[in-house]
Amino acid sequence: MKRNKIIAGNWKMNLSFVEATQLTQDILAQYQNYTNQHTKVMLFVPFVYAQKVAEICAEKPNIYVGVQNMHYEKAGAFTGEISPVMLNSIGVEAVIIGHSERRTLFHEDNELLAKKVKSALEHNLIPVFCVGETLQERETNQTQSVICMQIEKGLFHLSHEEMSKIIIAYEPVWAIGTGKNATPEQAQEVHAYIRNLIATRYSTNIAQNISILYGGSMKPDNSADLLKQPDIDGGLIGGASLKAKDFIEILQSVPQSNA
Ligand code: 13P
Repeated sequence: MKRNKIIAGNWKMNLSFVEATQLTQDILAQYQNYTNQHTKVMLFVPFVYAQKVAEICAEKPNIYVGVQNMHYEKAGAFTGEISPVMLNSIGVEAVIIGHSERRTLFHEDNELLAKKVKSALEHNLIPVFCVGETLQERETNQTQSVICMQIEKGLFHLSHEEMSKIIIAYEPVWAIGTGKNATPEQAQEVHAYIRNLIATRYSTNIAQNISILYGGSMKPDNSADLLKQPDIDGGLIGGASLKAKDFIEILQSVPQSNA
């Protein structure tokens, strides 16, 4: 996907089937007023709702349905896992890889994540690859080195062509679910750093065309300032994506001059 403004909802492990269906319909009722060829919506839903949400969103422009994790193998004896081939077969188009909750709570390391990214691309799924530092890492001036390592180990095995299909999300761990978002300046600084890393390893052209989303307590009252920053191309939104009104308000706050 080329560089776009992207407002993405990560529903995490929330909502009943009925609520998930309703939320999808409520978003669909309004999102087209605020999307176009440069401004897209993505919904990262629990596996068990993905088929239904994909059906509801099928044929609708500028909206993509994804899930929050996957296994890297096509099939096999991996009890409890979901493969990219299965996701293809129900119309899923994208997948979050390396969310900090997966890294921390489920011990996913950079080597595993590198395999997942590669496999997602091989199966035509758009990977949204997440990076971010903890509070302790920020306070000890390790933000850039942590982000650098996550990007190098998670993504730098990709070819130029593969890299141009990735979306990156910068999600400082201390901002996730805490109500304490990174300031626009803090986020912009890391986004510019990430873009520069990609330019150095790949090319300026690839770096300029990659979408880098910010995630961590993005809400209707702080989204406009974050989304105005030159290297912030969108948001990956947790809590505020569970209410259609909040999610649409964030979408509405995407700066129109760049859209
Ligand atoms: P919150 O918006 O709830 O802080 O979650 C952010 C996030 O983790 C999105 O992936």
